[in-house]
Amino acid sequence: MDLSVEGKVYVNGVFEQACIGVENGKIVEIKKILKEDEHFDFGNKLILPAGVDVHVHFRDPGMLHKEDFYTGSVAAVSGGISCVFDMPNTIPPANSVECLDDKIKIGNRKSVVDFGLYAGVTNDNIDKIEGLNEKCNGFKVYLGSSTLSLLFDKKNLHRLLDKVSLTGKPVLFHAEDEECLIEHKMVEKNLSDHLSCRPAVCEEVSIKNVLSMSQGSNAKVHICHVSSCEGLELLKGHLGNVSFGVTPHHSLLNVEKKLGFQSFYKVNPPIRTSFDKEALFNAINNGFVDILESDHAPHTMEEKNVDFDVAPSGVPGVETMYPLFLYLVKKGFLSFQRLTSVLCTRPAELVGVSKGCIDKGFDADFIVVDLKEERRIRSDNLHSKCGWTPFEDWPAVFPSCVFIRGEKVIDDYEIQVSKGFGRFVGV
Ligand code: NCD
Ligand code: ZN
Ligand code: ZN
Repeated sequence: MDLSVEGKVYVNGVFEQACIGVENGKIVEIKKILKEDEHFDFGNKLILPAGVDVHVHFRDPGMLHKEDFYTGSVAAVSGGISCVFDMPNTIPPANSVECLDDKIKIGNRKSVVDFGLYAGVTNDNIDKIEGLNEKCNGFKVYLGSSTLSLLFDKKNLHRLLDKVSLTGKPVLFHAEDEECLIEHKMVEKNLSDHLSCRPAVCEEVSIKNVLSMSQGSNAKVHICHVSSCEGLELLKGHLGNVSFGVTPHHSLLNVEKKLGFQSFYKVNPPIRTSFDKEALFNAINNGFVDILESDHAPHTMEEKNVDFDVAPSGVPGVETMYPLFLYLVKKGFLSFQRLTSVLCTRPAELVGVSKGCIDKGFDADFIVVDLKEERRIRSDNLHSKCGWTPFEDWPAVFPSCVFIRGEKVIDDYEIQVSKGFGRFVGV
């Protein structure tokens, strides 16, 4: 064994004072007493599985002024995330084998967390899915326009699902119906206009469409960032091959609340009413939501600090997601069981990585947390290049230490490894 880590370890749904034995980056033993030469004793601090974020936009290549694989991944691990899955709407878009190859190289060179990639599927490359499959961990499809999105025509859904089902990998949908969005288009001056332009019915129509198409298909379907009661209702009790995600911003923010400079909260789908927000949070709490995903979509302050209608959509979130929800657990609004399910176990299952669980055979990815160490979120202390957060001043609990494959990547809130520590999780 290479090392052992001691603390109050979250194993099989309960905390036990125990030691985790690690060899070659994997958990090989969990025992009351283990003492390797390299032994870290965290006393009665909590040891939880690190999070897996299945939805980030690290902007690399092409928009390095917003983020890059190094800054994005430092933000991720500082917030307790050991593995991220990057979306294809970069420049150039990751919709060909060559671009995916380039992105794998970029991640291997710069990332400090493990990473996977999605291939963008458009009307033009459906027939190339077999080839793309060699280089990606899943597929991303935009059924409605969003920031730099790669639009897909819903009439091709059937063909898409047929092809994807042969790969065994998930296909993730941005589910807002393009025709519906066009119908509601108007000049937008604030968040409530943005909500009128992208009403819940557009999400509803799109999800309905995907669900009816996935019936009878073996394709592994994931609906990203569900934001409305209507969407939620459709997905409750969904079939086994369908999963869905909710974001921190949709489940914690609502449009009626005074949200500061409005364009900073412009995001797709839009932040909706308190009714939607509460339904989403309750759904996380009640076990209906499969996955909490950040949809980390950084844009710079300069890009956001403009008239509402020209501001790009998207908010950062990879660093604050786990800490915000840990705080809510501390306050008794959510259980550890739900938290680790939506942030660790279920996301790892969706993308098929051996992470997200403290058990023998899994990667030794865990975080050390002291619930008494409550901190206010401050942009100045965050690591994304964008330099701001929609959760400024919110209370949170950040991990003091993060292990990835048995290596201490964060110690006392500071990064310990250099660029390139992170690995492509393979295909
Ligand atoms: C995302 C972005 O900026 O890349 N924006 C957003 O509002 N969520 C694109 C997306 O995932 O829709
Ligand atoms: Zn999206
Ligand atoms: Zn996104």
